[in-house]
Amino acid sequence: MSVIELKDISYRYPLEKEDTIKNVSCKFEAGKVYGLIGENGSGKTTICNIIRGFIPSFYKGELRGEVLLKDKKLEEYDYEDLASIIGYSFQNPFTQISGVKETVYEEIAYGLENLGVPREEIIKRVEELLDLFKLRELAQKNPYELSGGQKQRVALAAVVALDPEIIIMDEPTSQLDPKSTADIFEIIDILKKQKKVVILVEHKIDLVAQYCDSIIFMHDGECKLSGTAREVLTNPKVLEMGGQLPQVTLYFLERIKRGEKFDMIPLNVKEAYSILKGEE
Ligand SMILES: Nc1ncnc2c1ncn2[C@@H]1O[C@H](COP(=O)(O)OP(=O)(O)OP(=O)(O)O)[C@@H](O)[C@H]1O
Ligand SMILES: [Mg+2]
Repeated sequence: MSVIELKDISYRYPLEKEDTIKNVSCKFEAGKVYGLIGENGSGKTTICNIIRGFIPSFYKGELRGEVLLKDKKLEEYDYEDLASIIGYSFQNPFTQISGVKETVYEEIAYGLENLGVPREEIIKRVEELLDLFKLRELAQKNPYELSGGQKQRVALAAVVALDPEIIIMDEPTSQLDPKSTADIFEIIDILKKQKKVVILVEHKIDLVAQYCDSIIFMHDGECKLSGTAREVLTNPKVLEMGGQLPQVTLYFLERIKRGEKFDMIPLNVKEAYSILKGEE
């Protein structure tokens, strides 16, 4: 059963003449990671804001179609219910920091305090998250004095702290080095095992191929391709529409173009290795 479903969604921002999102339909299930990909301006963040109800309530504009959250229309939920079900980490981590807390520790605890969670429980939860997000050394620092990448990790920890069923991450690794990026993907894997719906907007396509179960490929406001990571990320149409494919996949597509045949197109080095080994 899907947790969220978009049914033929179209959306026009206020004062715009054309729809930014055009007839998008897709479903999201628990325990799966969804990669929302596509070039700049293709509508990924707009889709995120539709899923979390910020469109149309905050951005206004004209939304057509239907968003179902657990079989109930999204507009039937009040804002507080939505905020407890859907966690959202912003594309820009600078906008996420609350600005009212003086330490990383308090920043992560902030949302839990607002929900009235008992003190002992808050401490337990924050301690876990400091370890999970490798933030222990930064715990007493002011969130505003952190680097972009450190802010991004704090922002994400604050979202995960609230234990929402659905976690939307809009480019969570944009400011992170490769090591911290790998750490975030490990956390994404943990969230998946906890049966969350994870919606990930991400440009690092090799990691998307490795960690995402399903892919939604956006182009000019339309969902042009969707399906399993293998279905979408081995499809050369993605390239024609300005998207990216994993490096190994590109290499195999090139060989196929030159007339070679393979039973499977690999998405990662490990798969490529076993295909080539089988050839010997
Ligand atoms: N508040 C707004 N009012 C009008 N148009 C907007 C607004 N926000 C975004 N847009 C337009 O909607 C389109 C989709 O933008 P969106 O931010 O959803 O793209 P994106 O795929 O997230 O891009 P990026 O990869 O750069 O983050 C763009 O053409 C953008 O200019
Ligand atoms: Mg965006």
